[in-house]
Amino acid sequence: MPIIKQFHKWASLLVGIQMVIWLITGLFFNLMDFNFFSGNTYRDLSRPAINPAEQQKLIPIEQALNTHQEALEPVSQVKLITMLEQPYYLLAHNLPAHHYWPVNATLINANTGKIQHIDENFAQQIAVKSYIGTGKVSRIEKLPPPFSDVPKERNNLWRIDFTDDVATSVYINEHTGRIVAHVNDWRRFRDIMFMLHFMDYQREGSFNNVFAIVFGFIALTLSVSGMIWLVQLIASGQLRFSLNALRHKLTLKNNNEKAPLTPESPHQITINNHHGERLKRVELTEHQQLLELNLLDGLAQHNLSLTSDCGGGGSCGLCRVKLTKSSPVHPAEREKLSKKQLEQGVRLACQHACTGVSEVQLLRPLT
Ligand code: FES
Repeated sequence: MPIIKQFHKWASLLVGIQMVIWLITGLFFNLMDFNFFSGNTYRDLSRPAINPAEQQKLIPIEQALNTHQEALEPVSQVKLITMLEQPYYLLAHNLPAHHYWPVNATLINANTGKIQHIDENFAQQIAVKSYIGTGKVSRIEKLPPPFSDVPKERNNLWRIDFTDDVATSVYINEHTGRIVAHVNDWRRFRDIMFMLHFMDYQREGSFNNVFAIVFGFIALTLSVSGMIWLVQLIASGQLRFSLNALRHKLTLKNNNEKAPLTPESPHQITINNHHGERLKRVELTEHQQLLELNLLDGLAQHNLSLTSDCGGGGSCGLCRVKLTKSSPVHPAEREKLSKKQLEQGVRLACQHACTGVSEVQLLRPLT
């Protein structure tokens, strides 16, 4: 049982922290302006169509394919696209299910029939064309995955950085020339919130990750250990549902709706200090009796706060007081108190209901 309690406490701490993270990040996603955090602050989102005059000049696709027959891998799909105001045939040699999976493709200029490689100069032209800010290109490099800015991407990308106020980077696919993303500092902040929300601490771009799976397991065991603890508390009599008291209260009310509740015999507790001298005598209210308040909480309500690290869970063993030698001994007390202490009447205040105690001696001076 102590192991289950320890596990339950630490698991609840972990789960609690992640719950708070979910709450904060969830609120952020609810309130944020998606466009503002999209990274497209300086992106030209217009899509120029192919000029009809240019379309007249297109060489037939069959001719382009025949010209490069030797050099080309088998083609699965052909698309006519526009790039830098020029028409291109995009020949796909594979058809990945997602655009971020590895793609193999060739670009052919649809006017000249020449193969167009996405080299540094061409990538820079595409990036500059898509950019409407005032920054200048500060760096350009071709990088292999993974990318912290675009974690799902599995293709080599050109990264072109601009000198603007939000540190814009443009990512371009090395095979297709497709603009994968504009990323800036606002989007990077949003991505950190995504990482926290989906527990994607390895930046895989997916919520189906090892941290989420381990967390799910911890949350499950937290529930199971909580249930075991609850059953143990009920079995040891530390948690009772006082239906009789409730019935009593209802009866009083039913007899005379307007009459104040006056318990026939209010329960009194005498409290002695650590020298055994009487400090005070307190009376339990009807409400406290109905709640079956434990002695730790009952004393606290009279400004007599005992030391406690576990908040009344019976696991720290700090809330020691002296009751009568015949007071019942609960399982937590067998774990935390010696046989000699039990024989002397030492007990844990959190394990005893106020209604079961008529006299209590504090063991330490009050601070
Ligand atoms: S408060 Fe921790 S054992 Fe009682």
